[in-house]
Amino acid sequence: ERIPHGPTTDRPVRFSTLARDAGSAARAGRLETPHGAVETPAFMPVGTQGTVKGLTPDQLWAGGSRMILANTYHLALRPGEETVAALGGLHRFTGWDGPILTDSGGFQVFSLAQRAKITDHGASFRSHLDGRLLELTPERAVAIQEALGADVAMCLDHCPALPAGKDAIARAVDRTIAWAGRCKAAHARADQALFGIVQGGAHEDLRARCAEALVALDFDGYAVGGVSVGESREEVRRALAVSTHRLPEDRPRYLMGVGRPQDLLDAVATGIDLFDCVMPTRNGRNATCFTDQGLVKLRNAAHTRDASPLEAGCDCLTCAKFSRGYLRHLFMAKEMLGPILASIHNLAYLHRLTSRMREAIRAGRFVQLRMEVLEALGP
Ligand code: GUN
Ligand code: ZN
Repeated sequence: ERIPHGPTTDRPVRFSTLARDAGSAARAGRLETPHGAVETPAFMPVGTQGTVKGLTPDQLWAGGSRMILANTYHLALRPGEETVAALGGLHRFTGWDGPILTDSGGFQVFSLAQRAKITDHGASFRSHLDGRLLELTPERAVAIQEALGADVAMCLDHCPALPAGKDAIARAVDRTIAWAGRCKAAHARADQALFGIVQGGAHEDLRARCAEALVALDFDGYAVGGVSVGESREEVRRALAVSTHRLPEDRPRYLMGVGRPQDLLDAVATGIDLFDCVMPTRNGRNATCFTDQGLVKLRNAAHTRDASPLEAGCDCLTCAKFSRGYLRHLFMAKEMLGPILASIHNLAYLHRLTSRMREAIRAGRFVQLRMEVLEALGP
């Protein structure tokens, strides 16, 4: 059971396990896509509108990014998937010719759109940009993502807003399973993978049921959703473990919307391979930076005459060239370079963390690394 396996064949994306940790379910692997390979565990920066805010593709690559995420909801509203397709598809459009994953839009409908109504048919809502009445069905979510042309598309899912009763979450699970079947039936692009999304809140039986039903539909990969909406860390860990244990060993596993360093360490221990989150870039725009000693707030007056780098030993552009004092000055003067340099460091921090995890898994010391890093980071 613990033997590494070679790549799954005859799939638009192929995943192989290169090493397994002895003391946890962590694994180091490789995801091969039509636009290149990604070593896992990996973190994907969020490029909601076809841009990781403030960074050029070259800066992303130099900082260690190998796969990015874009949002169906935003791009379908503006400029429209037909325009992206007419401009050569998402890779050509954005100038990022590495792997791209698009989220399906359901999650954004619930968080951004006005008066979202959800039925078994799909979600109808008003655009948050101009109030237009729109509809997102599983078939439409697939058609938009096929036109955008990312390497990985996601099924339309129903992530209920919390707090929600167990019966409401059970209905969302039923709908997520039914929609996954419709997405799979509608999806026809041979050079694009389609991932299913496990819902079920903090309920272990619902998570298990959702995972098993999705596995029966045979997706190219599986995501765990509904864990970035306010549950406790312990609830997330339990829901995750239950979900991942039921997912096939030979397919990639993606935890949606999670980017706290502590949470990455927890999730990799349960067997997660991929992550995305706005946190590194959103925090960066707010002058809040990841370090191994916890968050550093650059606006803090203590940094005024601090000549040291944001993080000693960090090999990112920001830490190689600039002092904390200079970075603080950029934020106080509202200069646009501040958010850019802080975002570059935060992404480099998470990429270095996943790289350390990959090395530790290969060396059989992941549990030790996790304890060391968690201890230094604090809760
Ligand atoms: N991003 C963060 N969480 C989720 C989720 O549950 N579903 C989808 N589609 N995207 C997400
Ligand atoms: Zn740095």
